[in-house]
Amino acid sequence: MRTQVAIIGAGPAGLLLGQLLHKHGIDNVILERQTAEHVLGRVRAGVIEQVTVDLLDEAGVGARLHADGLVHDGVQICVDGVRHRLSFKELTGKTVMVYGQTEITKDLMDGRAAVGAPTIYSAHDVALHDFFGQKPRVTYRAGGKSHEIACDFIAGCDGFHGISRKSVPASAITAHERVYPLGWLGILSDTPPVSEELIYVHHPLGFALCSMRTPTRSRYYIQCSLAEDIESWVDERFWEEIRPRLDDEARERLVTGPSIEKSIAPLRSFVAEPMRFGRLFLAGDAAHIVPPTGAKGLNLAASDVRYLSQALVEHYAEKSAAGLDHYSERALARVWKAERFSWWMTMLLHRISENPFDQKLQLAELDYLFRSKAAATAFAENYVGLPY
Ligand code: FAD
Ligand code: DHB
Repeated sequence: MRTQVAIIGAGPAGLLLGQLLHKHGIDNVILERQTAEHVLGRVRAGVIEQVTVDLLDEAGVGARLHADGLVHDGVQICVDGVRHRLSFKELTGKTVMVYGQTEITKDLMDGRAAVGAPTIYSAHDVALHDFFGQKPRVTYRAGGKSHEIACDFIAGCDGFHGISRKSVPASAITAHERVYPLGWLGILSDTPPVSEELIYVHHPLGFALCSMRTPTRSRYYIQCSLAEDIESWVDERFWEEIRPRLDDEARERLVTGPSIEKSIAPLRSFVAEPMRFGRLFLAGDAAHIVPPTGAKGLNLAASDVRYLSQALVEHYAEKSAAGLDHYSERALARVWKAERFSWWMTMLLHRISENPFDQKLQLAELDYLFRSKAAATAFAENYVGLPY
């Protein structure tokens, strides 16, 4: 088989790249290790920046998002039982959209099926070859047989644990990493959210987040230790842990019920530099991870894809290598800003240090955020997404 761009991974990055390339007449094949059902089952992201919405529109998959997504004008931060509101609309004139990653994935998969572009699910032993030369290849096993795809470029969109980044010789790549000593335990439940807006909770018992998917479906997270065994978290225990962290109003409005999904995610900051290796380009979680606090992971995956799709279009349509040559530098400039913001929000809101000095500093910083228009504006600008 031959294609122009072989895409590894059918997460948001790979599917969105495939859709944008297809729109510009660039042939692509997606290889995904899991089944489509498995990919669709990953709950994860919920907050979508306006620039990501614009890109999904450009890819032709924004209709359901506009119909069902919830526009949020602001966010609330609760500190030790007292809620403060930060209005994105007033501070920046912008808003964000609450729409689940599962729904974005479904829209992208449906869009791809509608144009008949190929995705090979359950592709095993994917291997990348010769990407430093002129004729890269990808091999894999599917249906009990070995296959090979010859291509012009490989897009490594296979997430943090994927094979693409690992295929690069260690001497060609530098990894920057911070692992936080905690995780997020998240549950999804068909109960109405406690508030119309997201509430990020700072509390001596630990961080909590009240989010949502729809007016009847809530998503909650609490900070947990990395050693936590998910099996020991029966639903009742989760509700008992989150309840005392909330303010009185939210506690009164909290409707508990059976979880329909429950998972633990470790918190990590990670950047691999550069993001280009000959004819291999990394995009999304394959190249970088942010802790989820800033709601930036999927949005960053989309911004990488924006730069990469434009660069590939320029290459094929205008025979210009400029976009490809600048891809890594452009993407990383945005990545590091999101890394900074996500690290800052994580350090601000979680119980990380037992040193009272660090805890007092957190409270002083939160107080500054609520009192200073400049600080609130900087927060809002980052949360809604920086302009390109
Ligand atoms: P992935 O979604 O990881 O997709 C990679 C794909 O590659 C997967 O389907 C995988 O199966 C496949 N793959 C892996 N290895 C191989 C292989 N060897 N061969 C073939 N295929 C392979 N982001 C936000 O923007 N906003 C939020 O509110 C937000 N909240 C989050 C909350 C939580 C709890 C978590 C964990 C994450 C959150 N994120 C959020 C981050 C977001 O979910 C990720 O950044 C996003 O999924 C990245 O997309 P991706 O396509 O790069 O990678
Ligand atoms: C959600 C996830 C996040 O990481 C975040 O910062 C806000 C909301 C969510 O899943 O709804």
